[in-house]
Amino acid sequence: MANHFSQLAKKSRTNGSSEKIAKEQTGKPSLDIYKLGDDVLRQNSKRITKVDESIRKLAREMLQSMYAAKGIGLAAPQIGINKELLVIDVNFEDSAAEPLILINPEITDFGTTLNSYEEGCLSIPGVYLNVVRPSTIKLKFRDEMGRPRKMKADGLLARCIQHEMDHLNGILFVDRVTSKDDLNKELIKEGFNEKDVISINQSND
Ligand code: NI
Repeated sequence: MANHFSQLAKKSRTNGSSEKIAKEQTGKPSLDIYKLGDDVLRQNSKRITKVDESIRKLAREMLQSMYAAKGIGLAAPQIGINKELLVIDVNFEDSAAEPLILINPEITDFGTTLNSYEEGCLSIPGVYLNVVRPSTIKLKFRDEMGRPRKMKADGLLARCIQHEMDHLNGILFVDRVTSKDDLNKELIKEGFNEKDVISINQSND
């Protein structure tokens, strides 16, 4: 399943980046990753007005931390910075594939097909739950050189981009889980508090 998704994601890749980070990271992430319950995860992020070396340095540090934590995506609010910056690499097993750095991303179109897939988050470690989302998206963003870009995404990449963009609006994937029973079970198991979830869904099953 994961393989299939990463192939899809690879096919949809339309943009490379010039940031080279070794993917085989050992030790702890260099940046602290905030967890469910921390207020910084619930704030709206601000657009980045100038893409300069400080933003590129931050993106590199985020990539290092993401690889060290074995994640496929990381949003700036997760390291306590409320700026519209995401790093993503759904091809983390492929050392030659370049990661994506998305600055001020905006989804311009959602496909009509929805699918359900198990998500996890470096801010809620150990919790994995199904979330329903559109299976394809189109988006625009700026790359790490500040250039405007457009891309289409499907499969795991589309899912990951939507998950990370939620972080920019203070939304966590657990807010979108429809099965409250599964949600509470998973959260308790990992020592999280269900009161820290701000549910978007009304379902009680
Ligand atoms: Ni996340």
